[in-house]
This record gives sequence, C-alpha cells and structure tokens, in this order.
Amino acid sequence: MPHPDPAPLDLAVIGGSGLYNFPGLENATRQMVDTPYGPASGDVVLGDFAGKRLAFLARHGESHTLPPHRVNYRANLWALHRLGARRVVGVNAVGGIRADMGPRAIVVPDQLIDYTHGRYTSYCDVEGAEVRHIDFSEPYTESLRRELLAAARTTGVEAIDGGCYGATQGPRLETRAEIARMRRDGCDLVGMTGMPEAVLARELGLEYACLALVANFAAGCGDEAEISIEEIFAHLAAATAEVPRILAALLKN
Ligand code: HPA
Repeated sequence: MPHPDPAPLDLAVIGGSGLYNFPGLENATRQMVDTPYGPASGDVVLGDFAGKRLAFLARHGESHTLPPHRVNYRANLWALHRLGARRVVGVNAVGGIRADMGPRAIVVPDQLIDYTHGRYTSYCDVEGAEVRHIDFSEPYTESLRRELLAAARTTGVEAIDGGCYGATQGPRLETRAEIARMRRDGCDLVGMTGMPEAVLARELGLEYACLALVANFAAGCGDEAEISIEEIFAHLAAATAEVPRILAALLKN
C-alpha cells in the first residue's frame, strides 16, 4: 500500500499525448499505487505547484508506451482517488471537427459520445460489486469546467466553452466517413481517451473536467488530404505549453 500523501491534494492532472511530466512541480515525490484493477499507467507524481498540492499522472506512461485502448483507466482513477484527489483535470489531445476548433485551439467540452469498445467502463463489473446506475446526463463537472474557463481567461487564453467530445477507439485516426458520421451525431471534437475516464471519475464521486488540446483538423475537416503526425505533435506542443499556466491560474483563482 502507498503512504497516503500527508497534505490534501488540491488538484490531480492526467496528462495526455505530449504531456508526460508536469513542468514546475516542486518537491516532487513519486507514488506507485497498488490497485485492485492492476497497475496504473505509472507512478503518480505528487508535488507543490502554485502554492498548492498537485498530483500528476501520465495517461500513456511517461515514455508513451500505452496506446489509448490499453490504458488502465480504472487503475488510474482509483490511484488518484486513493491518494486523496477530489478534483481531476484530464488533458486530452483531440482532432477538431467544428470549423472554429482548428489546430492549437483549447476547448473545455460539456458533452461526450462514446464510440469506444472493449474497455472496462465501470467499477461495477467485478465479481460481487454492487450494481450502480449513475447519472451521466452532464458528463463533466460544471463548476470545474467554469473554473478552467475562468483560469484560461486569466492567462489570456481564449478557451472555447463547450462542445461534444466523441471518444473513438484508436490508436488509428478515423476515416473521413467516420468523422462525417460523428459530425452528424453532433460531435465537435474527436479523441481516443476521454472515455471511460470521465465515467469512472463520476463513479468514484470525483469532480472531473477535460481540457482538450486540438492537434489537427479531424479527417476530412481541414484542407489536407492526409493528417501528418509530425504536425499533430508540433501543434500539440504549442497548446501543451499553455497548460501549466492555465492550471496555475485555476489553483490561484
Ligand atoms: N482523432 C482522434 N484522436 C486524436 C486526433 C484525431 O484526429 N488528433 C489527436 N487526437
């Protein structure tokens, strides 16, 4: 069992593609948390940031070795909860479907549609667990969404308020037809890791919001015939650089 962090946690951050450690985290210690669901993506790094206690976990592992469908979402959320997290911000790389959600845009979505399959989506599906049907009408915690938007504004970042995140299986990108269908369904963004993370956070009673960083226009939504992975990572690096400033403002506001 880990030693619970003596100081309560003010925020937990799950970093996505391009965010494998948290810049500016001071007095950092690492915790490997045993979970009933197997190993988390790696150690949780605990430290001081903006005068508060922050926990950071790299969703894909610190060397990006876990593809989206192999991430142990249950273990990740359980580990953060076990360490005392109450509020979690998931940072997710996404493709933009809506015209105003082009590369480097930052979006705080308010809805999602889950197209993933074969992932463990609940803490109820272990032998003997009580079956609970939780409300998920609003998949993100509105107060935390508002705080993120206000924090972005404080730092001069025009984050887009709202949008529907479509979670796909990956690790491949989508076909144009798939994206056309998602657009008809009402999706504004597409990413591979937004689910089941959001629902597992809800099952554990955690506040959860998503900070979506647009890396590219989704298939068929931009001018390019093909999506370049190099470009994705270049745009992602630019958007990721804003994340610590936004979260510092969130913790200070
Ligand atoms: N599709 C799915 N996930 C993504 C994309 C995309 O186009 N870009 C970054 N993450």
